[in-house]
Amino acid sequence: MPFGEGPRICIGMRFAKMQMTAGLITLLKKYRLELAEGMETEVALQPTSITTQPIGGIYLKLIQRDGWEQRILQAST
Ligand code: HEM
Repeated sequence: MPFGEGPRICIGMRFAKMQMTAGLITLLKKYRLELAEGMETEVALQPTSITTQPIGGIYLKLIQRDGWEQRILQAST
């Protein structure tokens, strides 16, 4: 878990999850994501990191979705 466990678990976890959800929705309204060329489908994690971190990062392609203008306009009216 990236937020820790037990009595010292992150007190900002719910807030952080809410922000991440809002951010993901905003992103996914306009783009679909694919792994960039050459990316492995198996992820190796950094064992010395406090939070979950893939070694070498994860590179993605953001591909514009059809009709995203309508989805943005619908949300703001
Ligand atoms: C993606 C965002 C975040 C991640 C990944 C994260 C991760 C963590 C981790 C790993 C810990 C240590 C837990 C442990 O010792 O077991 C922690 C503690 C803490 N986090 Fe976060 N955190 C995030 C966002 C936030 C936010 C937004 C706030 C405040 C608004 C916050 C406030 C705190 C506090 C006060 C502690 C100390 C809790 C304690 O020691 O009792 N964090 N966080």
